[in-house]
Amino acid sequence: MRGTVIILLCSCLLSILMFSFAADTVTANQTISDGHTIVSAGGDFEMGFFSPQGNPKNRYFGVWFKKISNGTVIWVANRNSPIFNTSGVVRVSSRGIVVSTNQSTTVSIWTSNFSGSVKNPVAQLLDTGNLVFRDENEQQKFAWQSFDYPVDNFLAGMKFGYDLVSGIDRYFSSWKSEDDPSLGDYIHRLDKNGFPQLMVWKDSDAWYRYGPWVGSRFSGNSVLKPNGIYTTGFVITETEAYYYFNRVNSESPATRLTMTPGGLSSRYIWNRDKHIWTQYLTLQVRDCDRYGICGTNGVCNLNKSPRCECMTGFHPKKPEDWAEADWLSGCSRKVQLECGNDGDGFLKYIGVKLPDTRWSWYNMSMSLAECENKCLKDCNCTAYSNTDIRNGGTGCLLWFGGLMDMRGYSDDGQDLYVRMPASELKDNRKFRVKKHLWIILVPVPAVLTLMIGSFLWYAYKAKRLKRAEKVRPQEKEDLDLPSFSFMQIANATANFSNNNQLGKGGFGTVYKGILEEGQEIGVKRLSEDSGQGVDEFMNEVSCIAKLQHKNLVKLLGCCIEQGERLLIYEYLPNKSLDVYIFDEKMCQSLNWQKRYNIIIGIARGLLYLHQDSRLKIIHRDLKASNILLDHEMNPKISDFGLAKIFGENETQASTRRVVGTHGYMSPEYAIDGVFSVKSDVYSFGISVIEIITGKRNRSFDHPDHNLNLIGHVWKQYNECNLLEVVDSVVLESSNEHEVFRVIQIGLLCVQEYPEDRPNMSSTIMMLTSDDALPIPKQPGFFSERRNRRRIGSSQKAFTLNTISVSSLAPR
Ligand SMILES: *[C@@H]1O[C@H](CO)[C@@H](O)[C@H](O)[C@H]1NC(C)=O
Ligand SMILES: *[C@@H]1O[C@H](CO)[C@@H](O)[C@H](O)[C@H]1NC(C)=O
Ligand SMILES: *[C@@H]1O[C@H](CO)[C@@H](O)[C@H](O)[C@H]1NC(C)=O
Ligand SMILES: *[C@@H]1O[C@H](CO)[C@@H](O)[C@H](O)[C@H]1NC(C)=O
Ligand SMILES: *[C@@H]1O[C@H](CO)[C@@H](O)[C@H](O)[C@H]1NC(C)=O
Ligand SMILES: *[C@@H]1O[C@H](CO)[C@@H](O)[C@H](O)[C@H]1NC(C)=O
Ligand SMILES: *[C@@H]1O[C@H](CO)[C@@H](O)[C@H](O)[C@H]1NC(C)=O
Ligand SMILES: *[C@@H]1O[C@H](CO)[C@@H](O)[C@H](O)[C@H]1NC(C)=O
Ligand SMILES: *[C@@H]1O[C@H](CO)[C@@H](O)[C@H](O)[C@H]1NC(C)=O
Repeated sequence: MRGTVIILLCSCLLSILMFSFAADTVTANQTISDGHTIVSAGGDFEMGFFSPQGNPKNRYFGVWFKKISNGTVIWVANRNSPIFNTSGVVRVSSRGIVVSTNQSTTVSIWTSNFSGSVKNPVAQLLDTGNLVFRDENEQQKFAWQSFDYPVDNFLAGMKFGYDLVSGIDRYFSSWKSEDDPSLGDYIHRLDKNGFPQLMVWKDSDAWYRYGPWVGSRFSGNSVLKPNGIYTTGFVITETEAYYYFNRVNSESPATRLTMTPGGLSSRYIWNRDKHIWTQYLTLQVRDCDRYGICGTNGVCNLNKSPRCECMTGFHPKKPEDWAEADWLSGCSRKVQLECGNDGDGFLKYIGVKLPDTRWSWYNMSMSLAECENKCLKDCNCTAYSNTDIRNGGTGCLLWFGGLMDMRGYSDDGQDLYVRMPASELKDNRKFRVKKHLWIILVPVPAVLTLMIGSFLWYAYKAKRLKRAEKVRPQEKEDLDLPSFSFMQIANATANFSNNNQLGKGGFGTVYKGILEEGQEIGVKRLSEDSGQGVDEFMNEVSCIAKLQHKNLVKLLGCCIEQGERLLIYEYLPNKSLDVYIFDEKMCQSLNWQKRYNIIIGIARGLLYLHQDSRLKIIHRDLKASNILLDHEMNPKISDFGLAKIFGENETQASTRRVVGTHGYMSPEYAIDGVFSVKSDVYSFGISVIEIITGKRNRSFDHPDHNLNLIGHVWKQYNECNLLEVVDSVVLESSNEHEVFRVIQIGLLCVQEYPEDRPNMSSTIMMLTSDDALPIPKQPGFFSERRNRRRIGSSQKAFTLNTISVSSLAPR
């Protein structure tokens, strides 16, 4: 008898609970406490308190997927004010949804942003993932909705953009990190200035620009191929502009766009079979995508080297910076615009990503001809284009002032007409059609060529010719390296006196010299019996003569006379890096900031060698003694005697003759003679670790074990004991996390397998950002014993660690 009562009571309680929490709605009389959740009607989404993975202390109120991908959080309320225990509670009041730290307080830590008041307030979680606040009796009229205040996830049904009437601006902001939903560094927002465009901001700097929506896609982004899963669109009216996407039908898999803490947007699609989110598209911010990398009036082109060039009729504002691959200063006009007496015309560019439209004006119903007229009449107007590329192009978009952040020569670009003064157009008058100068800057697709006919072909060839002329003098200059006479150099170096000797390398001796005009020089005199033959010599000359970068040592000339081979370099007063980092006294002058600058500089120099110069060059002998320092302690990579120029499509090569320096050579190179850019990355990693530890890899000795330096650092890294390896000078002048981060990057660079090592552009990205780093795998040449077995007896041949060896493998 008693038992039944209890059972009855229990099931009654249970049904009450079921009643209050199975529903998707919370009324004014209910609260959601930590541990209880509300599920949307169809069971797709759930809301309640949660802790991000890896951060169990902090409690946040949010919405996550339930039916699929249980726990993928899409929205967070109190992102900036977590609750540190499980007494948090959510209420619904006439003012909105309120999150408080406990039951007994009315003080809120978060409130939905709504200024009015609702009579019978309810909060409801819809099956779209939208949390809405409304009057009980007004099903469709939301006083507030979470879709208007997104965090980092963009779901089907959301509008991404602004509404000038309601003042709502829906934009995305990244989490601080994977386990911290507080406001991060990146904001992804539709910009209201000028013609609306989608931009990503890092802190308060423009970081990446999708560009304006031009009818079927964002300018400079590929057209989205029909995919059977989702469709996208863009709405622009007088009062609002937004981007949206919808699932093709209710059968389509779930999809979302997410912004990572590192600022990258990824499109995820739910894979029903594997039960995972698969990445469908990811925005990769590559060199040319960084906002304004080529400065005002510069055009970036990934397929070109260097990547930046000025538009026709413009030249670099600061040629010295441009020569060193720093393009931010941009370009200015060779001839100023006249305006007024109908002198100006336009130059047409094909295939460009439209410039920044924050300084633009638009009208979506004007024609291109009207647009040209309007631009001509306004002296401040510098360019125009269509607003919509569909139907042969419609609408008018005008720019004022400098043109910023253009990318060129891609299939996904469009036409842009840039204003030019008459004098600049005159030379090309024969190609002028109605004030348009038809210069084709892209290889013209075949169909187009046929359509427009031989006229364009002629223009194209003319342009090619013009370009060829532009390039030729430079190449000639490259080969016309100044030649010095032996006498001249002998005089400059006091007849190669020992007092002038700066150092000895594998192939000869380096002297300091002073030319008659007073210029200081460094002279590398190759010893007759040096390993460096004429081949290597010519190699170094031709290689370095073509290179110009602030982190590469500059070759001033050479001398081949009477069996002597001399290389004349700019003189760098502060010697080489090894002189500093491995010396107890000298290392005091290198604090963390200076060392970090050196690391970044070496990385930039290498990146230039690997991919930014006109050639692809593998240095093959990067080491501390080959890093010279200028008067400001900027690093310059030197000694290109072993460098190898790679052909356009060549990614790795092998040699039977392994040359390089032990301790810096990557395993695949030392053992198998295979080298690639990743062999340089390895040597870079060794240098990074040496710079931070102040220890030489080669002569490293530890009382507790016989691992080499890299093995030692790897061991301490795994034991979370990196403090032990860092040079005390570095520790005094830095934040240890920063240093540990760079050590980790160093370890990533020395991983055993070349394919695991990052390339130099990723390395620089990691060095200059705070994004999460991958976990390094075991380094190559990890333990002394294994090393001996694999390289064998050849090791004893190397006595001087700074000297490059060339006799490791049989010729
Ligand atoms: C519950 O709600 C009703 C009306 O919705 C209200 O009259 C009543 O005061 C509420 N009770 C509590 C305890 O808030
Ligand atoms: C969803 O996740 C919660 C908490 O992580 C867990 O308790 C629950 O069992 C999961 N549900 C399903 C259906 O996997
Ligand atoms: C929970 O943490 C809040 C602050 O976030 C504090 O005010 C409250 O007293 C704590 N409650 C308990 C039970 O510890
Ligand atoms: C409830 O929260 C308020 C405000 O945060 C705090 O002052 C109070 O001590 C808390 N009460 C309890 C019982 O935790
Ligand atoms: C609430 O929204 C208005 C505009 O609708 C905005 O100005 C205000 O800053 C917002 N307040 C909060 C706390 O988000
Ligand atoms: C060399 O480096 C030191 C710092 O160690 C610096 O003070 C000096 O200006 C540099 N230049 C020369 C020419 O010594
Ligand atoms: C490089 O590869 C591309 C495509 O595979 C080819 O068209 C081009 O001719 C190659 N270039 C050289 C120099 O081999
Ligand atoms: C470190 O130096 C040792 C010689 O002491 C050398 O055999 C080894 O290859 C070097 N290790 C690395 C990772 O370069
Ligand atoms: C460098 O590595 C990144 C990441 O793996 C890759 O996306 C990029 O294409 C690489 N760059 C070059 C020039 O190989």
